[in-house]
Amino acid sequence: MSEPAESETAFRFKLLHQDGAARAGVISTPRGEIRTPAFMPVGTAATVKAMQPEAVRALGADIVLSNTYHLMLRPGAERIAALGGLHRFMNWPHPILTDSGGFQVMSLAKLRKLDENGVTFQSHIDGARHVLTPERSMEIQDLLGSDIVMQFDECVRLPCAPGEAERAMRLSLRWGERSKRALAPKSGRALFGIVQGGDDKALRRESATELVSMGFDGYALGGLAVGEPQAVMLDMIETVMPFLPVDKPHYLMGVGTPDDLLQSVKRGIDMFDCVMPTRAGRHGLVFTRHGRINLRNARHADDPAPIDEKSSCAAARIYSRAYLHHLVKASEILGMILMTTINLAYYQELMAGMRAAIAEGRFEDFAAETEALWREGES
Ligand code: GUN
Repeated sequence: MSEPAESETAFRFKLLHQDGAARAGVISTPRGEIRTPAFMPVGTAATVKAMQPEAVRALGADIVLSNTYHLMLRPGAERIAALGGLHRFMNWPHPILTDSGGFQVMSLAKLRKLDENGVTFQSHIDGARHVLTPERSMEIQDLLGSDIVMQFDECVRLPCAPGEAERAMRLSLRWGERSKRALAPKSGRALFGIVQGGDDKALRRESATELVSMGFDGYALGGLAVGEPQAVMLDMIETVMPFLPVDKPHYLMGVGTPDDLLQSVKRGIDMFDCVMPTRAGRHGLVFTRHGRINLRNARHADDPAPIDEKSSCAAARIYSRAYLHHLVKASEILGMILMTTINLAYYQELMAGMRAAIAEGRFEDFAAETEALWREGES
C-alpha cells in the first residue's frame, strides 16, 4: 500500500545528527524543507528590509519570520488574506514563521493595557485602538497563511520586579492553552509553545513541563536576550533543554549575535531569528569570519581591501571598505543593501558551517576555530 497522502503534507522534524548536545536535522513542511540549525531572517513588515526575497533565498535562508503585530496594523491581515496570503503577497513561496504579537505590542505600542483576556493598545502608526487576544492572534496568523504559528504569550524584560516573571509565565501557559484551542488543525501547519519564566530556573522548568504536557509541534524559549548577561541566557537554555522532547524543534526567539548562535547550538537549539544582521547592516556594522567591522569608523575611509576576499558572498569580495564607508556615511540605499547582504550571507554561512560540523562530529573543533578567527580579527 502506498504511503497516505497525509505524510507528504505533514509538518515533521527529523533529527539527522547529534554531536554532544548540538543537533542537525530537517523540518519538512508543505512549502519546503528547513535545514536545522536554521537562522530565520526577520521580515517584520512582509519584507526583509533592503532585500529582494530571491536574494534572501540565494543567500541560503529556508524560512523567514514575519510579525502579527505589524501586519495587523498595516496593511491588515484580512487584506493580505484577500490578496492570496502572505507568501504570495511578499513573493516568498518558502516557509514562513509568524510571531504572535504580544512581544511587539509590549515593545512598540502606546498605552498598553494587559489583562487575562489579552492586550489592548494604541497603534504606534496612527494611534488607533486595537485588541490582541490569543484567539485573535491565531486568527491573524491563519489569515496570513503562516506555516509555523507561535502561541500568544507575555514576555517580561529583565531584570523584572519580584513576582512578574511568575505572573507572566502562568498567563502565558493559559494563553498557550487558548492558542491551541483556537487554532484549527491544518495539515502541514505547526503551532509552537513558548517557554517563559524570566531568569528563574524553577519557573522555566515548570513552564516547559506544562507546555510539553499540552503538546505542541515545537518549543520556543522566549523572554531571553531581554537585558540579562549572555551567561544567564545560556544557563536558562541548559535548564530547559532536558524538559523538552528530543524529537521536536527547539527555537530560541530573538537571538542573536554570531557568538550567541554558536553557544546556543552547542546547547541544543535548532532555530533562531534576529534583526541583528539586517538592522546592524543598515547602520554600517558587518559580521564576518574575522569578527565585526564598523564601517562608519574613519579608519576605513582610504582602505581598498574588501570585507572578506574568501567569502562566498560577492558583495563581501567585490566592494572596498572605503566604498562601503562612503555609502554608510552618505546614507546611501545601496550601502544598506550591500551590508545587509554581507551580514545575511555570513549568518547563513555560519549556520551551514555548524550543520556540516555536527554531521561530521566535529562541532567542538568548529566552534573553537570560529571563535579563534573572530578573536584574531577583532584584536
Ligand atoms: N521574540 C523575542 N522574544 C520573544 C518572546 O518572549 N515572545 C515572543 N512571542 N516573541 C519573542
